[in-house]
Amino acid sequence: MKQYDDLEKILISEEEIRTRVAELGRAITEDYRNAPEPIVLVCILKGSVVFYTDLMRQIDHDCRLDFMIVKSYGGGTESSGNVRFVKDLDDSITGKHAIIVEDIVDSGLTLTFLRKNLITRGAKTLKICTLLDKPMRRSPKSEISVDYCGFKIPNEFVVGYGLDFDEKYRNLPEVGVLKPEVYKNV
Ligand code: IMP
Repeated sequence: MKQYDDLEKILISEEEIRTRVAELGRAITEDYRNAPEPIVLVCILKGSVVFYTDLMRQIDHDCRLDFMIVKSYGGGTESSGNVRFVKDLDDSITGKHAIIVEDIVDSGLTLTFLRKNLITRGAKTLKICTLLDKPMRRSPKSEISVDYCGFKIPNEFVVGYGLDFDEKYRNLPEVGVLKPEVYKNV
């Protein structure tokens, strides 16, 4: 397939993703076993949509779905931390258990902003679940800790399984490393 020509390598296979997502679902199920309330799963569109739909089917608890679209000013392959809402949650999360479901934590600035914002709305508990984490890239200004992480990855730009570059490659079933010449030429 043409999209694969732009990849340096496959970093995480479909099988590895499936196994790990099931493990994360079991861990979340276990952690909320004694909570009578539902969990609000907050999907950060668009990047986490594939992970989100797979993850929720692995959680054996009453889950409510809600969606946010945020944009970080700056574009390219770097996050600026200046985040604006394009779409906010439909329902209030006051007094509820919420889990933010992200595709990847890089500088951590997007999640620092989101976490603070959701806490001010009075969530009863707020956790962060990310498919991928690049710990080496964390900004000193980041104030988050990840509660559930699929894979820690090196400092490389990855696409697939929902993650994009310039809105492309989201539909690849694996996570792959994009050839640097693809994003350096834009
Ligand atoms: P942060 O604010 O720097 O943590 O950036 C988080 C956001 O940047 C993610 O939700 C992605 O949209 C984007 N991002 C960071 N690294 C990558 C990557 O390697 N591939 C695709 N998107 C990325």
